[in-house]
Amino acid sequence: MKFFIDTANLSQIKEAQDLGVLDGVTTNPSLMAKEGIRGQANIEKLYTDICNIVEGDVSAEVISTDLAGMIKEGEKLAALHPRIVVKVPMIKDGVKAIRYFTNKGIRTNCTLVFSPGQAILAAKAGAAYVSPFIGRLDDNSVDGIELIKQIVHIYKNYNFRTQVLAASIRHSVHIVRCAEAGADVVTCPLSAIMDLLKHPLTDIGLAKFLADHNK
Ligand code: G3P
Repeated sequence: MKFFIDTANLSQIKEAQDLGVLDGVTTNPSLMAKEGIRGQANIEKLYTDICNIVEGDVSAEVISTDLAGMIKEGEKLAALHPRIVVKVPMIKDGVKAIRYFTNKGIRTNCTLVFSPGQAILAAKAGAAYVSPFIGRLDDNSVDGIELIKQIVHIYKNYNFRTQVLAASIRHSVHIVRCAEAGADVVTCPLSAIMDLLKHPLTDIGLAKFLADHNK
């Protein structure tokens, strides 16, 4: 299972990269706004900076909601770096845009996916990644992990090559449950990745080993 970090914060990206477990980065307009990154030039510079830090894929989201706008934006984003993956929303023109980009050899990440039907459409259109939002489903009293299981099962049935990228991860238990469900990728906040380290028995055991060594 690949680990992506879901942030537009360069220092967090560097920290995850330094841990040696990072396979890629996802961003979205809300994460950009959270870091105060505004204006197309600044946004594009950030994508280039991220590509220079991380060796894996970097998802860059389009803002347009019409086909012509998504194509124009996506082609510009894809030209920034060969590892940029154009992130496209799961709407009618988004599906058309994914098909257009697929035919042109531009990889896409279909975002804002909340149902197995949407995931089937994304795969049929040729998306490289599909992003089901599990935390937001959980927030609405729907089991997000169940959706990951359904999509993994469906994609296996038909050998769809689209990778299941579990998004909207809230905590480390989500990461483990996604691994059990067979997600190809999890995109997580840094805190969820770092929380995987934690176990009180590790701390107690290490303290005892060090104390015994010093006796
Ligand atoms: O990047 C998409 C997704 O991971 C957003 O997560 O926490 O805003 O629901 P969240």
